[in-house]
Amino acid sequence: TNSEEQSSLEAYQWLVKLYHHLLRHSKDGKEALEYLYNRGFNDEVINEFQIGYSPSSRDFVPQFLEKKGFHKQKMANVGLLATSNDGQYYDRFQGRVIFPIRNHLGKPIGFGGRSVQGQEPKYLNSPESALFQKSKLLYNFDLARAEIRRKGEAVLFEGYADVIASYQAGVKNGVASLGTSLTETHANLLRRYVDTVVICYDADSAGQNATYKAIQLLKKVGCHIRVASLPYKYDPDQYIQEFGEESFRTKVIESADTEMVFFLQYLKKDFNLSLEGDRLQYVEKVISEIAKLSSSIERDHYIREIADEFNLSYDALSQELMSRMRNIE
Ligand code: CTP
Ligand code: MN
Ligand code: MN
Ligand code: MN
Ligand code: MN
Repeated sequence: TNSEEQSSLEAYQWLVKLYHHLLRHSKDGKEALEYLYNRGFNDEVINEFQIGYSPSSRDFVPQFLEKKGFHKQKMANVGLLATSNDGQYYDRFQGRVIFPIRNHLGKPIGFGGRSVQGQEPKYLNSPESALFQKSKLLYNFDLARAEIRRKGEAVLFEGYADVIASYQAGVKNGVASLGTSLTETHANLLRRYVDTVVICYDADSAGQNATYKAIQLLKKVGCHIRVASLPYKYDPDQYIQEFGEESFRTKVIESADTEMVFFLQYLKKDFNLSLEGDRLQYVEKVISEIAKLSSSIERDHYIREIADEFNLSYDALSQELMSRMRNIE
């Protein structure tokens, strides 16, 4: 019911405050705060994102919610408490750094809890509930919305840390799909606000595969796409820590290239380009992608690049392209 939802939202608000307070002022929280500072987060973003810490106690949070007058089973229904087999309520996030997850109106509706000392799993998230549905939610959309609209562009990241580190670096139109792959709902939401989405996923194979899928989906809803590239194995937050904010803004975000530049790299993973046969197969595959471009200037540009890179005849490649395009029509 509506009043149940209302009380869940209130409970979330209380817990965000509690966790944040404990990060700031408890003895236990010190280590977690130190952990955040070591990762390069400053006080301003720690406050802005209301990052918190959950104490290493099973009962502290259930007792807190009970004292505030909340019904424990109802709190469990929306993921605020976990229940054990023997019917006890406990805090699933105990001992973790807490990233509150806000809905698009800015109201907290879930948590991401990150382990501090390398315990697995690295992230524990609130379970899906009527309130919290990852497939519909983009992390940080509420804070980023104004900048997204102003720029006509959104930056899409994988995770909390990337969004926050980028925000601190001055990239304030960042959102994240939180580890789940981008859905059509996410894509449509972005499309309502922007022409262009800059995809800035991790530079590992999972991130690159996810980039490929996100491109397909975003194109389907009519977005233009640019793809940011990072050095192999880096993610945005690591990049910022190592190379700095200025470099991230200019060399990664502003320099994000067309999706075709991404494809040309990405498609190489399936081929051994030191073999003649593989090289030709790769080139054919690339040409079929180039044939899908609507701009003849762009098509020509990439055909020239491929001709150069593989020392092939521009005319032959153009002819091949023409025949592919007839097949598409
Ligand atoms: N994720 C998750 N559960 C995991 C690992 C990841 O829910 N066990 C989600 C989180 O939302 C995370 C995102 O997927 O932010 C991206 O995963 P990953 O790249 O592994 O984490 P980072 O964001 O790089 O986290 P950190 O920098 O804190 O290691
Ligand atoms: Mn990742
Ligand atoms: Mn990552
Ligand atoms: Mn990271
Ligand atoms: Mn080029």
